[in-house]
Amino acid sequence: MPATAALLVLLLAVAAPLAGADDPYRYFTWTVTYGPISPLGTPQQGILINGQFPGPRIDCVTNDNLIVNVVNNLDEPFLLTWNGIKQRKNSWQDGVAGTNCPIPPSANYTYKFQAKDQIGTFTYFPSLALHRASGGFGALNVYQRPAIPVPYPPPAGDFTLLVGDWYKAGYRQLRQSLDAGGALPPPDGLLINGVQSPPAFVGARGGTYLFRVSNVGLRASVNIRIQGHRLRLVEVEGTHPVQNVYDSLDVHAGQSLAFLVTLDQPPLDYAVVVSTRFAPANLTAVGTLHYAGATARAPGPLPAGPPGQYDWSVNQARSFRWNLTASAARPNPQGSFHYGAIPTSRTLVLASSSPALAGRRRCAVNGVSFVVPDTPLKLADNYNIANVIEWDSLPARPAGGAPPRAGTPVVRLNLHEFVEVVFQNTENELQSWHLDGYDFWVVGYGDGQWTEMQRQTYNLVDAQARHTVQVYPNGWSAILVSLDNQGMWNLRSAIWDRQYLGQQLYLRVWTPQQSFSNEYSIPTNAILCGRAAGLHTDEQDAESIQG
Ligand SMILES: *[C@@H]1O[C@H](CO)[C@@H](O)[C@H](O)[C@H]1NC(C)=O
Ligand SMILES: *[C@@H]1O[C@H](CO)[C@@H](O)[C@H](O)[C@H]1NC(C)=O
Ligand SMILES: *[C@@H]1O[C@H](CO)[C@@H](O)[C@H](O)[C@H]1NC(C)=O
Repeated sequence: MPATAALLVLLLAVAAPLAGADDPYRYFTWTVTYGPISPLGTPQQGILINGQFPGPRIDCVTNDNLIVNVVNNLDEPFLLTWNGIKQRKNSWQDGVAGTNCPIPPSANYTYKFQAKDQIGTFTYFPSLALHRASGGFGALNVYQRPAIPVPYPPPAGDFTLLVGDWYKAGYRQLRQSLDAGGALPPPDGLLINGVQSPPAFVGARGGTYLFRVSNVGLRASVNIRIQGHRLRLVEVEGTHPVQNVYDSLDVHAGQSLAFLVTLDQPPLDYAVVVSTRFAPANLTAVGTLHYAGATARAPGPLPAGPPGQYDWSVNQARSFRWNLTASAARPNPQGSFHYGAIPTSRTLVLASSSPALAGRRRCAVNGVSFVVPDTPLKLADNYNIANVIEWDSLPARPAGGAPPRAGTPVVRLNLHEFVEVVFQNTENELQSWHLDGYDFWVVGYGDGQWTEMQRQTYNLVDAQARHTVQVYPNGWSAILVSLDNQGMWNLRSAIWDRQYLGQQLYLRVWTPQQSFSNEYSIPTNAILCGRAAGLHTDEQDAESIQG
């Protein structure tokens, strides 16, 4: 019917898939392959992007449109996710198993998204099947537009450090041992930008340089420090903290931060030390901060790690405060949003259970261990496909002692709800939780079992906002989140074996008033799989009607 076609074309013109049509476009074609790498000195098979390990770094500017055509030349389905990029109104581009069909071998998919209203240090990595244990990750730096000042003078230079634990065993072998019910072995090494000793970070004496650090490892927490220098914290996952000065900083799995270092020492070479925290393995990687023209190493031992374990770390975490007067990516001051005065609409208390399910090793949240469904949850929701999503089946409080079950839980939440989430750790190892689509305020870290009494201890004034929070052993971390981004969002462990084994779930943030100003429609090039295979996106329908 021509009238329908005309209407569809009109609707499509209104529903432009990217809001900022005037903002610049950056195009990338990324071919993903296997290839030899030797990060620990012995050859192993890595996952490369355009032949590189780590993958290419994206440097872009707030609101740029990023068009990334990913060609999968692996022999397994593949997806990339953009860690910390909020994908406003656009969970279609989030690249996790619950939102996107995997890119089949020998196929490609073009991600189209905007780094909307964000400035800072982010990463991307493969989200499926433990692929990231073999590479495929990289840095994604978003710079400010000239009109939007950041709360520090422009640095003389900018260094990006991807740090993390590393295994000689490839992802298949590690996956096999998890599938067979084993645990991950201790890591074999620690890497900075894919090697144990990266090329020197070179600066001029007297200059101040920005170090962007992201923990892209599978599970180890790390500490970073620079011999003879102090670190002024200026960014935590795209938000501006109070600029405290530290001797060293802890960075847990999935987290990013950035600090300034002034080269105010005698012109020498200084060690940049990254070491594992808490783990049985005591691993170190050492880089160099080279003062231009220096010809000798600074004397003395490598700087030692923090004097304390968890107590030291939690104290440092509590010292991270939001700078209420710093401007955000948007021109309005962050502090104009008084999060502490907003009543919460509900509370979720999410407890991990120790890894076990009917004899096989699985991880779970409130008694449910997430299994990847045959159809992405976002597609099942979009096309009303029954029996994929378990709506609201996840208990809002930890389940009793019953053994966990397998499931695909989605918690339904309303757009603009203001929600309290408490992550309860009942185990002896540190956990790390990440939410896609959002930043949240970390209002408290505590010991033991969380109770409502703990709310009295919350920081309701200047808690640090971020997207990934650590939860200390046998303790809790509490967050507040303003659900202003409609979509299907993954809430997951950033400890990657735990995520793989089921410590994750999805939140659907939704309103019955369907509008393109709340959420974009399914992209024209969406891959349709599982029970959505053979269906069409509206635009594909429109094309076939016109054709
Ligand atoms: C695959 O790449 C081609 C260009 O090489 C592009 O035209 C096409 O849209 C891509 N497919 C998807 C699903 O994005
Ligand atoms: C907070 O940001 C403001 C505005 O950019 C800046 O001048 C100030 O130094 C920052 N305050 C702290 C304590 O870091
Ligand atoms: C870890 O190794 C460093 C240097 O190799 C050493 O100084 C430190 O004492 C070790 N720490 C532990 C807990 O073994």
